[in-house]
Amino acid sequence: MRNYPVIAWVRHIFYDLRPFLRQYIVEDDLEGTPYSFAARNLIYNRAQGKSDTQPLGTERNVREDGYTWVCHSMAPSAKPDKKPRVTIGNEQSSQPYNASLLNISAMSFGALSGRAIEALNKGASIGGFYHDTGEGGLSKYHKKHGGDIVWELGTGYFGCRDKQGRFDPKQFADQAQIEQVKMTEIKLSQGAKPGHGGMLPGSKVTQEIANARQVPIHQDCLSPSGHSAFSTPIELLEFAQNMRQLSGNKPVGLKLCVGMPHEVMALGKAMLSTGIYPDFIVVDGAEGGTGAAPSELSDWVGMPLEDGLVMMQNMLVGTGLRKHIKLGASGKIYNGMGMAKHIALGADWCNAARAFMFSIGCVQARRCDKGTCPTGIATQDPQRQRSLDIDIQSERAARFHAKTLSALAEIVGSSGVIHPSELNPHQIITRVNAAQSKSIIDIHPLLPANSLLDAPKDTAYGDWWEAASPDTFKPIKDITQAMGKTLSAHNRGHY
Ligand SMILES: Cc1cc2nc3c(=O)[nH]c(=O)nc-3n(C[C@H](O)[C@H](O)[C@H](O)COP(=O)(O)O)c2cc1C
Repeated sequence: MRNYPVIAWVRHIFYDLRPFLRQYIVEDDLEGTPYSFAARNLIYNRAQGKSDTQPLGTERNVREDGYTWVCHSMAPSAKPDKKPRVTIGNEQSSQPYNASLLNISAMSFGALSGRAIEALNKGASIGGFYHDTGEGGLSKYHKKHGGDIVWELGTGYFGCRDKQGRFDPKQFADQAQIEQVKMTEIKLSQGAKPGHGGMLPGSKVTQEIANARQVPIHQDCLSPSGHSAFSTPIELLEFAQNMRQLSGNKPVGLKLCVGMPHEVMALGKAMLSTGIYPDFIVVDGAEGGTGAAPSELSDWVGMPLEDGLVMMQNMLVGTGLRKHIKLGASGKIYNGMGMAKHIALGADWCNAARAFMFSIGCVQARRCDKGTCPTGIATQDPQRQRSLDIDIQSERAARFHAKTLSALAEIVGSSGVIHPSELNPHQIITRVNAAQSKSIIDIHPLLPANSLLDAPKDTAYGDWWEAASPDTFKPIKDITQAMGKTLSAHNRGHY
């Protein structure tokens, strides 16, 4: 600035303009992050009811590493299910919920505006799918249009907490029992910021947000990084059981991004030792979105969806628990292919967050953390929210949902089956290098039923299994040594 002030100012201007220049002038259709132009355009077209067909063939490089395709059948089926659903709720709950295979993933009122929450919930009501509240509580905007709700509790227990921020069973029961709430969910982590709590600054804690979260107005609102209601795998399940009973026996589930593998095994051991089975588990991938997150956590911490989903599926199949528990998947799923792939890998249904934001007008301005979202979606500024027309945008969310399920049905039909649950993992092939492609079951070996009970050491998870305990999230064996490697980081200091 001191040597070349004019040039420095011009540089600053271009620095600010860079995202727009890239997005509108420089980027190729298949470039652009987190969502490419092609991905966003597909969502906009589907949401707005425009044509979503493609002329003259794929633009993708089918010889590129990572290119993934579905093996179709010589005998396609003519009538694949275009409105597939799945029943969630095991023998321990008494009000099973019949869910669509695509739903709105958790996004809080606070991260999103009241109008965005209304548009999404109205869309869910029109299209017959569910809307997850996110951890910011059940607000009046969630309730206004009657769309099915999954009420999520994070570490702040917003909407059902006492003055110290601990879980309050009475307040939980009052809200969880309302008809519109179909299921409840304990959030353990999300892929975009695993293990991170959060703080909504007092300046953003408006009267409405304070009401939804049951916190004092204009005071900093803290989400701790961990839960206070439990500290071991068994206590987690007991808490889930308590929530299920308090909600009138509605299905209860967990949402997490998979981190340390022995903890997944510990969860399985806790289910086996208590006999308490959550009705569902949603696995979120590291590629998932958020309003704001520390860069290191967003970029480098947490397991991507494909890997986390396979690990959870393997744990449930290997312990014989899969029949009690349904699996959801989220992490950058926005089209029929994303759904088909993850359903083939084991998911019973998929959730999408940002894709639904695009459907109601998000332009990927990436200002969710600044409060200056130009489309009125991720802001509490009433002026900016004026641009969001709830009637128009709710129709778009519903249309995006319906058209994405129709696109999934195209894949299901070409595979020669009727329901997406009939898709198989061996149908998914990935190119691993220029000369080779592999079925996804060669990339991620899938466990036979009960193998973790019968002979855990014969599975790829033997060491994790041995290190897992239902009584603690900590490993009970030194995993590094158990794996035949030398010293763990913990021991290194002694030498
Ligand atoms: C604006 C925004 C707010 C979010 N808030 C929550 C939240 O409150 N609780 C939660 O579990 N996940 C939250 N998420 C994560 C999503 O629910 C989801 O797990 C993740 O974004 C993967 O979905 P996507 O890749 O389709 O966006 C949020 C995501 C976004 C984009």
